[in-house]
Amino acid sequence: MSKTLPYSMKDVGYDNAKFRHRSLLKTFIQSSLTSNVKRECTKCSTGKFLVLLLIGGLTYLMITHTSTSVSVSSNAKSNNIGTEELSSLRRFWRKPPRLPPRLSPDEMSSKSVPNRTLEKLNTKSIWMARQQKVKEAFLHAWSGYKTYAMGYDELMPLSRRGVDGLGGLGATVVDALDTAMIMGVEEVIVDAGSWIEKHLSERISGKGQVNLFETTIRILGGLLSAYHLSGGQGGSSLHKGPKPVVYLDNARDLADRLLVAFTSSPSDIPFSDVVLREHSAHPAPDGMSSTAEVSTLQLEFNYLSYLTGNPKYGLESMKVFEHLKTLSKVEGLVPIYISPHSGEFNGENIRLGSRGDSYYEYLIKVWLQQRGRNSTYLFDMYEEAMKGVRHRLVRQSVPNGLVFVGELPYGSQGSFSPKMDHLVCFLPGALALGATKGLTKDKAVKESILTFEDLENLKLAEDLTKTCVEMYSVTSTGLASEIVYFNTEGNSESGPDGGNKSSEYVHDIIIKPADRHNLLRPETVESLFILYRITEDPKYREWGWQIFEAFEKHTKVDTGGYTSLDDVTTIPPQRRDKMETFFLGETLKYLYLLFGDESVLPLDEFVFNTEAHPFPILGNLVKQ
Ligand SMILES: *[C@@H]1O[C@H](CO)[C@@H](O)[C@H](O)[C@H]1NC(C)=O
Ligand SMILES: *[C@@H]1O[C@H](CO)[C@@H](O)[C@H](O)[C@H]1NC(C)=O
Ligand SMILES: *[C@@H]1O[C@H](CO)[C@@H](O)[C@H](O)[C@H]1NC(C)=O
Repeated sequence: MSKTLPYSMKDVGYDNAKFRHRSLLKTFIQSSLTSNVKRECTKCSTGKFLVLLLIGGLTYLMITHTSTSVSVSSNAKSNNIGTEELSSLRRFWRKPPRLPPRLSPDEMSSKSVPNRTLEKLNTKSIWMARQQKVKEAFLHAWSGYKTYAMGYDELMPLSRRGVDGLGGLGATVVDALDTAMIMGVEEVIVDAGSWIEKHLSERISGKGQVNLFETTIRILGGLLSAYHLSGGQGGSSLHKGPKPVVYLDNARDLADRLLVAFTSSPSDIPFSDVVLREHSAHPAPDGMSSTAEVSTLQLEFNYLSYLTGNPKYGLESMKVFEHLKTLSKVEGLVPIYISPHSGEFNGENIRLGSRGDSYYEYLIKVWLQQRGRNSTYLFDMYEEAMKGVRHRLVRQSVPNGLVFVGELPYGSQGSFSPKMDHLVCFLPGALALGATKGLTKDKAVKESILTFEDLENLKLAEDLTKTCVEMYSVTSTGLASEIVYFNTEGNSESGPDGGNKSSEYVHDIIIKPADRHNLLRPETVESLFILYRITEDPKYREWGWQIFEAFEKHTKVDTGGYTSLDDVTTIPPQRRDKMETFFLGETLKYLYLLFGDESVLPLDEFVFNTEAHPFPILGNLVKQ
């Protein structure tokens, strides 16, 4: 039984919290704070526009001519797959409309420019060209991995070799596969698909210790989403590569082994680690499970139950939420550790960063997935928690008023810490999703479905997205550090700034030496994608492009792959020699979707797991 694996890989070298007691501030900043966010306009001269139009046009032709034509097989089992799903698949695969696009009267009149059609075409071609750049980045990342690390969990791009940091199931292969499907990169689909077909089942039955959470979100999630996107129940693949059922068979075998973490625990809270070849599970060395880890398994297990018709996966995993519902909380907020022995929370540390984050994310996402299936309590838990966040954790920085989410390291009676992990930047996306249920804001307003709480949450989402973007702009590299601290009224944090002296927020944000690394994390671009889809405000795309350019400039490795950084505040930044699987699985996928057509994977029909693997929303499938 190997103990060499860290307890939570997403946290490696991470848990360097340096909490100090601080005087409790009396002022709670509500989300009714006025936003200073100004709309950013695309600043492009006409000349630039025309050149980009040309490039974009060529790119568009290339894309449409190389993408495989797909069709939905008609022999789908009608008892398993609703017509709703078929039509959503069709919608998903429908090619973007041919130029010129039809404009709504709204769009025609919203701005008085000489030729709206022309401007619209220019804008569209710019984003198509930028989307193409993301696809190229994905290919560059994959080629490094394939050349030096095929079959390993991760690439070490500087030393040009592979490393098994996640238990040895070829995590990058599985995490990257559905991104390749979404981008339509057949060569990667074939590489990854064939590897899975040849090697994965042997790995699943032969490997030792894996973390339940990491394996569920990356491997199980990746397989299930690949199964759906490759045609799923249709039987024959929409792509080259193996039949979809290969992905489902591997998913089922893996989940049967992971399920032991639930069934061998004395409570409804699963153990954190599983030994795959022994069909056994055990707690982490300190006995505790992370709250986020035990509550970030349900989208995957529920969907597997739906696909296989075997309810056991969903039932076991949902016991966690049913149990968490009964525990007492601080205005809906929960400590970050929980004991699988007693089923009780451990300690008082409350935060929306590491070990707490995706508890809140899955409350709303599992509710979205399960709507109409007795899951109202999840929405209630979510809404209470978000009220708690707004009341207890949201503050504003000085001197320039960035809205941020801090922590309560000593529980409800302890002092507030103005520390925010980059991981917290998932929250704006979750808030926006919870507010409109995946619809555009326009549509949600027209249908009058936004409550007061929804509007408060949406406002907070927009303010926090701005803050997350400033966490990038404030550094010398334009890339965010793993953790930042905010200066607050009467509580000056000490520490260096991010190095970008021309940033307006250089005095608001402090980056301590131990927190200066960047692991190519996705949370900010994830929220940019969701906020763009929901608000349709182009500034979110512009921000995403700035971040993408910074990744290109500072993390790209010539010989293939992209690397994590040790220090984002110096130029050139010191590099760390690791390409995390979520760079291919999440970061590049969300950027690609952000710059692309809104009809691909619509947020009212798909829910993305915490590793960015999209699953169709089950409520839609059973409505028929
Ligand atoms: C606007 O531009 C489009 C595309 O070039 C063109 O087809 C259309 O005729 C133009 N409309 C006007 C009013 O100039
Ligand atoms: C909801 O719960 C009730 C009572 O437990 C049960 O009878 C009903 O079948 C459930 N409905 C669904 C859709 O699961
Ligand atoms: C530094 O801040 C300025 C002002 O916000 C911004 O325009 C610039 O892009 C930032 N530099 C980097 C490297 O992000």
